[in-house]
Amino acid sequence: MRADVFTLFPQWFEWFRSQRHVQNALALGHTVDAFDFRTATPLKWGQVDDTPFGGGAGMVLRVDTMEAALRERYGEDPVALKSHRRVIALTPAGRLLDDALASELAAEEEITLLCGRYEGFDERILEHFVSDQVSIGRYVLAGGELAAMVVLDTMLRKLPGVLGDDESAVEESFSEALEGAPEYPHYTRPAEWRGWAVPDVLLSGHHARVDEWRRAQSRLRAERPLP
Ligand code: ADE
Repeated sequence: MRADVFTLFPQWFEWFRSQRHVQNALALGHTVDAFDFRTATPLKWGQVDDTPFGGGAGMVLRVDTMEAALRERYGEDPVALKSHRRVIALTPAGRLLDDALASELAAEEEITLLCGRYEGFDERILEHFVSDQVSIGRYVLAGGELAAMVVLDTMLRKLPGVLGDDESAVEESFSEALEGAPEYPHYTRPAEWRGWAVPDVLLSGHHARVDEWRRAQSRLRAERPLP
């Protein structure tokens, strides 16, 4: 997976890249690169945004400076780019990120994430340069950077070898392996603490019964509303 992120704050991604599982992904040959919108802008003083036509608060990322940034990186018209590469804008009103979307994106060879700031993107960017809009929830962040990291995190941990133990990303909440249900409860030592005991079945060493119990717990959690 080759992931490019366009942002006004590329330094935020240094922290993300330094995390253990991301380091694992990089060591396996995957890439996560952050690009500053400002480096390619033809405007003075690194300008990439402007006030909205029609008035109103905030600033809007300009379509011309976005085109310059994408052309500099990919050497082609961004209108053509999106036909062979997922170019994803992080927007609060986009498609809600879930496990299925994370798996879909993890299967891509190459993706581009565009982080908006302030009032977001000029609509023509979304119409002409972007293949998908993704939201991490119906609330508004100060910018798309944290959302991009959430998207990257959930994708990268699905790549073989990234978590160290391949199984751990397979049977987990909302995965296909659990038919979209939340994951079963986990316990570890001590087997009893302040009178709170671990369910006997987990200590039985009986794998088939443990499996059956876990699946039943997972189904129960699917039926009962989340706290
Ligand atoms: N940018 C601002 N808020 C966002 C959200 N909730 N999801 C994705 N991108 C965003």
